[in-house]
Amino acid sequence: MQYFVRRQWDLQQREHTPPSVFENRQAHRRDFLKQMGLSAAGIGLASSVAGCAKPTDEEIEAAGDVGWLPKEYAEKYPAKQNETFEYGRSETAQRAAAEYTNFYEFSSSKDCWRNVSKFNPSPWSIEVDGLCGKPRTFDLDDIYNLFPLEERAYRHRCVETWAMCVPWTGFPFAELLKLVEPKPKAKFVAIESFVRPKEAPAMGDDSFPWPYTEGLTVDEAMNDMAFLATGVYGEALPKQHGAPLRLVVPWKYGFKSIKSPTRITLTERQPLTFWNGLKPNEYGFTANVEPEVPHPRWSQATEWMLGTRKEHDSVIYNGYGEQVGGLYA
Ligand code: MTE
Repeated sequence: MQYFVRRQWDLQQREHTPPSVFENRQAHRRDFLKQMGLSAAGIGLASSVAGCAKPTDEEIEAAGDVGWLPKEYAEKYPAKQNETFEYGRSETAQRAAAEYTNFYEFSSSKDCWRNVSKFNPSPWSIEVDGLCGKPRTFDLDDIYNLFPLEERAYRHRCVETWAMCVPWTGFPFAELLKLVEPKPKAKFVAIESFVRPKEAPAMGDDSFPWPYTEGLTVDEAMNDMAFLATGVYGEALPKQHGAPLRLVVPWKYGFKSIKSPTRITLTERQPLTFWNGLKPNEYGFTANVEPEVPHPRWSQATEWMLGTRKEHDSVIYNGYGEQVGGLYA
């Protein structure tokens, strides 16, 4: 007989429960409280005590606030909307995206915004090295001065089946890579996030192989869809979305879109990455959205939207086949 032992990095069961169960969650909660012998008055009281009340939009916004410097950059360098990109669905509400994030350095539950207060994403720098002619370190000044910003309406699909449609502000990853002049021998980019256990409480959990790491082939990284985002919804990136900048590769499952990178290394060999290293049979290195290929523990055929819980059929390469299909032909 096979026993399933839940490890730290396995998804919690509730994260892939069908959306219909969540729709009924108020009812379930009432039933649960009734079973516990609590009356209607008790239910009201339970909702209003600290930690049970629904946070306000202002509380969530204040928690993710990145401080004056990144905000000043975001205001000084407004982004031009790139009209080539459309969601084909409704835009996700800003709050719905901000209160449901994956950022394991802060928490393995979705309300990471509650744990980001000590994170200080400015000043920030990214070192780019390895197989390139002009290795270089970029600080935020360089990033905002060197790369004209645009806004792109992108879909995002998490391997856990939730999805969102958000307007990222940023610039193509290729523009940064071109400046360091990758050598022909470079076949992959290895990307590494920060190590700041004093600012990111969940980094104290040493069952994870910190820092968070990800990687792409050089061809994928040079594709115009691969985007480095400095903002979202027309504002500086809130901490929980990966301040002060993060990768966005919308044809791949969301874990590839690494937040808050500090180092990018051009290499000849495929790098070991966070999730792929932990569970290679569940989280492949390539990790393109492929509805026909189920995750070993759930189907990838459909997805549900943050905020509305509306369900959609998933699409190969998350619908970006025209832009990236050639990479895999
Ligand atoms: N980057 C870092 N550094 N740490 C993380 O835990 N989670 C990934 C990715 N980038 C993660 C990360 C996962 S699993 C997803 S789905 C996306 O970020 C989620 O992006 P969002 O939370 O901004 O929606």
